[in-house]
Amino acid sequence: MARPEGGGAAASERLALIGDVAGIRSATEGWRCAGERVGLVPTMGALHAGHLSLIQRCRQECDRTVVSIFVNPLQFGPGEDYECYPRRLEDDLALLRAQQVDAAFVPSVEAMYPPGATTRVRVKGIDEVLEGRHRPSHFEGVATVVLKLFNAVRPHRAYFGQKDAQQAALVERLARDLDTGVEVVVCPTVREADGLALSSRNVYLSEEERIAARRLVEALRAANRRYLEGERDPERLRGAMLTVLRAEPLARVDYAEVVDERTFQGPGPLAVLAVRIGEARLLDNHRLGDPLP
Ligand code: PAF
Repeated sequence: MARPEGGGAAASERLALIGDVAGIRSATEGWRCAGERVGLVPTMGALHAGHLSLIQRCRQECDRTVVSIFVNPLQFGPGEDYECYPRRLEDDLALLRAQQVDAAFVPSVEAMYPPGATTRVRVKGIDEVLEGRHRPSHFEGVATVVLKLFNAVRPHRAYFGQKDAQQAALVERLARDLDTGVEVVVCPTVREADGLALSSRNVYLSEEERIAARRLVEALRAANRRYLEGERDPERLRGAMLTVLRAEPLARVDYAEVVDERTFQGPGPLAVLAVRIGEARLLDNHRLGDPLP
């Protein structure tokens, strides 16, 4: 099913840049009618190696790869970083060309939310805890835009990163509950050499903050060590993470919990963190017991 690695000018010129829902729908409809499997990688741009891993997996498993780039205003709360969220469209498109992506769906805010579009989607329960509690209406924005992207692109499969574990679980539930027919594929977190999980928001970190940010993965490693030694008490595992995080003066912990990986309510094997360092709010997680490099 996967195309061979092409190369050369013809392959790199094939990226279609599409800004409207009718345009992307007719492109993917044509592919579907020709019996091709369509994959979607939803992004907000500022693409990094984490996104690349999703794109590469999509290319391996699908005949056609669509990448959406849309900084979704609905998922940012008042006072959050919507205005200054990194936007690097030209670099992103060059990367998509190099990856031989078939189509970039880059809608405007007006194309996605025309005046009068007031419908919102909620995935109850999972959207009320952890990220949902700290960022009220964030997940409503995510669920609404993801369903709209599914409806516009009508992919067979859609690819999300485990780094945003709660988002991935919420999207899996949405896809199933609303009979979208989309298979949600969750891909492993990509990390820097020192373990920091890749995120578009890492660009907010100063040099000093970048060093402090290592504490997230170190906290997960500490909990993992305790888990591998046999510790199962969620409070003690949580304590192991907090000890590491509290030793870092630049880190302000929003939460550090050990929860069930589907409901995100405890107890369970998933260690999840949200930590503010300077202007950046960083997330990470790890399924305890699995190897963590
Ligand atoms: O993870 C993201 O980049 C966004 O939340 C997503 C899934 C593209 C929806 O806007």
